[in-house]
Amino acid sequence: MDTNVQKRRENKKSLRIKVISLGNAEVGKSCIIKRYCEKRFVPKYLATIGIDYGVTKVQVRDREIKVNIFDMAGHPFFYEVRNEFYKDSQGVILVYDVGLRESFDALDSWLTEMKQEMGSQANMESIIFVVCANKVDLTKRRVVDESEGRLWAESRGFQYFETSAQSGEGISEMFQAFFSSITDMCENGGKRPNPEVSIGFTKEQADTIRRIRSSKDSWDMLGVKPGATR
Ligand code: GTP
Ligand code: MG
Repeated sequence: MDTNVQKRRENKKSLRIKVISLGNAEVGKSCIIKRYCEKRFVPKYLATIGIDYGVTKVQVRDREIKVNIFDMAGHPFFYEVRNEFYKDSQGVILVYDVGLRESFDALDSWLTEMKQEMGSQANMESIIFVVCANKVDLTKRRVVDESEGRLWAESRGFQYFETSAQSGEGISEMFQAFFSSITDMCENGGKRPNPEVSIGFTKEQADTIRRIRSSKDSWDMLGVKPGATR
């Protein structure tokens, strides 16, 4: 075969992507990546200083994907370092610790920080997000349940996974789905495929569920004024 034709075919099959990890300090971002790339778990906490960078190769269908992983430090102190690295990401792994409510509540501010650094909304539409509810092995200290985490993720069109870097639960499933969605997006001209197809709740359903959960009484839950007739 003509070597140029062969080269073009190989180029079409190979893909380079950039992914980043986001979430509060100590939620387990580095451990999730380490579990996937090195198949091991480190119990001792070694805070990421600024950014950790690594490369790995994965196979999605007939394509070889070269993945550049930027593992961000969650500590607020490293804001200045992090904001350099948001640009040109195709995938984001959002992580929280199921035993720490504030790490779940912080997911919105992580999205805000990212949006601020990225600029236009259009860019956010070309990124695949996955949410990891991490440390599910520590069942006794769990405070954020699955339905709450799943609702937050799926109402935004993000895939939700229950993970444990310690036991390995959910890790390879999460990465497989993540890389395959990124590949689909690249093959779809860089646009996220319609989230409505894959999610459990529409935006309206999610808003209603959120309203019901936060309502102060039965009137409020039904969305009517106190004393309203049947
Ligand atoms: P920063 O780099 O500071 O942003 O933190 P990080 O999110 O990268 O956290 P890291 O992966 O370093 O993990 C923090 C601590 O949680 C470490 O002591 C880990 O051993 C522990 N840890 C991480 N994932 C799990 C898990 O799934 N289960 C349990 N039991 N511990 C975990
Ligand atoms: Mg880290």
